[in-house]
Amino acid sequence: MIGGVSVTLGSALARILVTGGAGYIGSHTRYFLEQAGHSAVVADNLSRGHKEMVPQGLLRVVDIRDTERLKQVLSDERVEAVIHFAAYIAVGESTQVPEVYFANNVSGSVSLFEAMLHCGITRLVFSSSAAAYGIPQRVPIPETEPFAPINPYGESKVMVEKILGWLDRYRAFRSVSLRYFNACGAEPQAGLGELHDPETHLIPLMLRAILTGKPITLFGDDYPTPDGTCIRDYIHVSDLASAHVLAVEHLLRDGQSDVFNVGTGSGHSVLKVLQAVERVTGNKVPHTIGPRREGDPPSLVADSQKLQKQLGWKPARADLDRIVGDAWSFANRQKRSSGEYAAIR
Ligand code: UFG
Repeated sequence: MIGGVSVTLGSALARILVTGGAGYIGSHTRYFLEQAGHSAVVADNLSRGHKEMVPQGLLRVVDIRDTERLKQVLSDERVEAVIHFAAYIAVGESTQVPEVYFANNVSGSVSLFEAMLHCGITRLVFSSSAAAYGIPQRVPIPETEPFAPINPYGESKVMVEKILGWLDRYRAFRSVSLRYFNACGAEPQAGLGELHDPETHLIPLMLRAILTGKPITLFGDDYPTPDGTCIRDYIHVSDLASAHVLAVEHLLRDGQSDVFNVGTGSGHSVLKVLQAVERVTGNKVPHTIGPRREGDPPSLVADSQKLQKQLGWKPARADLDRIVGDAWSFANRQKRSSGEYAAIR
């Protein structure tokens, strides 16, 4: 074990390009790749990412839609495999400007795949989402659940997964798609954590409510769940990052293309998360109960047995208090370094 990440014997250390490596999950994955001995370089256009999340010298400012520039980076850096995060992620925004989501998330991905094929690089880990399932028939959700996205963001992930299927078949382009559930937590001692702008996710918004005194609205308490609030599978970002390390090592060993859910298999309701935040921080979370948010399914929990069995992944930080504690440390660090928390929006 190195830094909590198991390094698979027999998998060679490699030079890996991380697109979107200045973002939340990308920056943690870059860190864990290095902990596992790999060498990483980051491609990010900084439209949503933060250059402070990338160590000096590793950032190449490039838009993934710029195929020619990508070819140059891939060959100059002697890249052997790519982990592809660069994408827009806000579900609500994707319903307002779907064309922007398809241009960035789908056309951007195709541009990257073209550049990779041009350079003879045919191993890619893709950042997919449980949003591909929409409102699932079965919970916990297995990977065999059909695609049924209910917003352009989810559809953009489905489209890229399908493109990857065709590239596998006709171009020997091997990929692993990881369908994430609710990424959360932080790696505060590495200076890494969640900094979306605007922030829409539950845990950072609860922490912000404590730090600013401005109440968070809980979206609905009349769902068919034990306490009436939605249930989600909250997965520590560092566990998510370690799944990427295992996935890229699988491809580097000439493993075949595959798809895996990444979640803990346990669900927590919004009210349970609120209780954990109050327990860990010792503060009350100012909140109000509002109406349901459109498109929120009552319960989304992963069946991640496949990832555990096939790649030997295990979530090491699944405890909700641990997740909240790491996010709280990062939020406080951020508050100290930025002077005022409100600056993060
Ligand atoms: N919630 C609130 N108030 C808020 C924000 C969220 O009550 O201000 C609730 C939501 O209604 C939901 C839960 O907290 O029940 C979690 O919401 P998030 O916005 O944090 O996360 P989502 O489950 O909506 O979204 C996540 C990922 C998406 C992905 C989706 C589907 O962030 O990228 O899961 O799997 F598309």
